[in-house]
Amino acid sequence: MRAVVLVGGFGTRLRPLTSTTPKQMLPVVGVPMIEHVAVGLAAHGIDDVVLSLGYRPDAFIEAYPDGTCGGVRLHYATEPEPLDTAGAIRFAACHGGIDDTFVVVNGDVLTDLSVTDLIAAHGANGGEGTIALTPVEDPSRYGVVPLEDDDRVSAFVEKPPPGEAPSNWINAGTYVLEPSVLDRIAADRPVSIEREVFPEMVRSGSLFGRQDDAYWADAGTPETYLQVQLDLIDGARPVRWDAVDPTAEIAATASVRHSVIGAGANIADGAVVVDAVILGGARVERGARVEGSIVGPDAVVGDGAAVGDLTVLGAGAAVEPAQVLSGARVPDPALADH
Ligand code: GDD
Ligand code: MG
Repeated sequence: MRAVVLVGGFGTRLRPLTSTTPKQMLPVVGVPMIEHVAVGLAAHGIDDVVLSLGYRPDAFIEAYPDGTCGGVRLHYATEPEPLDTAGAIRFAACHGGIDDTFVVVNGDVLTDLSVTDLIAAHGANGGEGTIALTPVEDPSRYGVVPLEDDDRVSAFVEKPPPGEAPSNWINAGTYVLEPSVLDRIAADRPVSIEREVFPEMVRSGSLFGRQDDAYWADAGTPETYLQVQLDLIDGARPVRWDAVDPTAEIAATASVRHSVIGAGANIADGAVVVDAVILGGARVERGARVEGSIVGPDAVVGDGAAVGDLTVLGAGAAVEPAQVLSGARVPDPALADH
């Protein structure tokens, strides 16, 4: 079975990290997000993927010059302009010559859900599409998907207002589709699978869902991008990952707790790092404190500075000595061109 993996979005919620690197090329405990996704697909026998590229395609193409990633063969389909999720699927499927049942995944989803079982459910229900569903506490930032007794989808409600979701089971960003779905997608404009195609398939009774409560996270916000990494080092998934890259330097009097420290990062004397992600080459200088925050590649937190409450520092950003930041973004994406 082949797959289309969507990686073309702007990653707006993760700015300024995504101002320089597309979301799915950001490291998750030292390995690009897309590679975690590819390894997950390969585990279910999917060894051929069409990457649906839009924003900063070269970052992917340069990272995998031999066209393989995490054990799967990659094909690159770069959109001339953003086509939205369904438009991107159509474009990538045509580019890759997909003409049989195929899998689609959102490239920012890290999960242990069973694609094998999803494919089997799709074969059994005889529908045009089958969506993997995962339970969440707050469905309002996802596509909400209530089911009938026979697992037919009864509604697809993308990002309902808080408190108005008809179910806590949401679209896990993983689908099995028949090629006939591609005929439902207009070729000449952006089309959203969540807002247009799935609701139309619900009306024709051809869309099914499969609930799966395995580990699942969308790593597309600072909070979840941090959490998915802590989950890996906590052993919340089948394999526990090492928190500190062997090339990182941590001074003897520094305190690093429950944090991910990337390649070549440096934590100086007396610095404190708690519940944080420090990306490659970043420096936390003497006596500085980083808590519950993300320090981008090659960023510097100056002597005695304090960075907390989900602050996000972009690549090469500098926090002045003794500066105190809470919930900040540096540089401020609101001041950037886009
Ligand atoms: N090629 C391409 N072109 N890719 C795109 C485009 C586009 O125009 N727009 C978005 N993408 C990619 C993103 O890079 C991401 O991998 C995926 O499509 C989903 O986009 P997000 O922006 O991450 O969507 P979301 O997280 O708000 O919501 C989606 O995912 C949820 C589960 O994680 C929806 O599918 C929800 O229904 C779902 O619950
Ligand atoms: Mg997302």
